[in-house]
Amino acid sequence: MKVTIIGAGAMARGIGSRLIAGDHKVTLHARNIEKAGLLAAELQERSVHNRAIEVRLVGAPVEDSVVVLAVPYDAVREVIEDEYGDKLAGKILIDPTNPIDFEMMELVTPPGRSGAEEIVELLPFEASVVKAFNTTLAGTLIEGKVDGKPLDVFIAGNDARAKVVVTELVTDGDMRPFDVGPLSRAHALEAFQLVHIKLQDQLKATWMSAIKILP
Ligand SMILES: NC(=O)c1ccc[n+]([C@@H]2O[C@H](COP(=O)([O-])OP(=O)(O)OC[C@H]3O[C@@H](n4cnc5c(N)ncnc54)[C@H](OP(=O)(O)O)[C@@H]3O)[C@@H](O)[C@H]2O)c1
Repeated sequence: MKVTIIGAGAMARGIGSRLIAGDHKVTLHARNIEKAGLLAAELQERSVHNRAIEVRLVGAPVEDSVVVLAVPYDAVREVIEDEYGDKLAGKILIDPTNPIDFEMMELVTPPGRSGAEEIVELLPFEASVVKAFNTTLAGTLIEGKVDGKPLDVFIAGNDARAKVVVTELVTDGDMRPFDVGPLSRAHALEAFQLVHIKLQDQLKATWMSAIKILP
């Protein structure tokens, strides 16, 4: 599959690592081309399949059918409304963002609402928003495992076909997908991750922990 990642930060590195592990074609869209170029070179070096990773300036046309919004929650509106607009029409939009105020350590969305549902409201066109990867810490995605066990990736969305596509990407990247239901369930996933982040001090896991369902 061909996947565009918007962003060149920690989650672009993590999700990009899993996508290339699954032999998918990755294009990075970034504000800082030099930074994205370095990330592309790093991903390519790690790729056993030796696939080229392309780099484009943010806002470039999107040829791929799957797009990962690997940007801060606060940047999503700008990305959708100002930078891309209908270039995202018809795409599967993977939303790994967490709407967290890191000073207050609370969700900034109204009770019961998710950032993922806000994204749907921002779109003046049809696209399939799928919440995924918001509970997997970026560093753990590099190997796709914690403690020798594959990461669990929780997937929420209203479009069954889009969820099948995301499920395939997760499986190909040697992780374990869970369909947790409709997009309204994204709120639970975002709250889940808030708790996970709040536990980092107690875990002393240096941001290398994972939310895992056993067995
Ligand atoms: N880090 C984690 O462990 C983790 C885990 C789960 C979910 N998440 C979520 O994943 C998302 C990305 O996190 P991250 O850790 O990758 O953040 P990050 O390392 O700060 O990277 C964010 C990227 O977004 C880019 N960006 C910011 N504003 C933009 C805009 N308006 N248009 C285009 N690109 C823009 C930044 O560009 P520049 O490089 O130019 O600054 C940067 O490349 C966040 O919503 C976060 O909540 C993170």
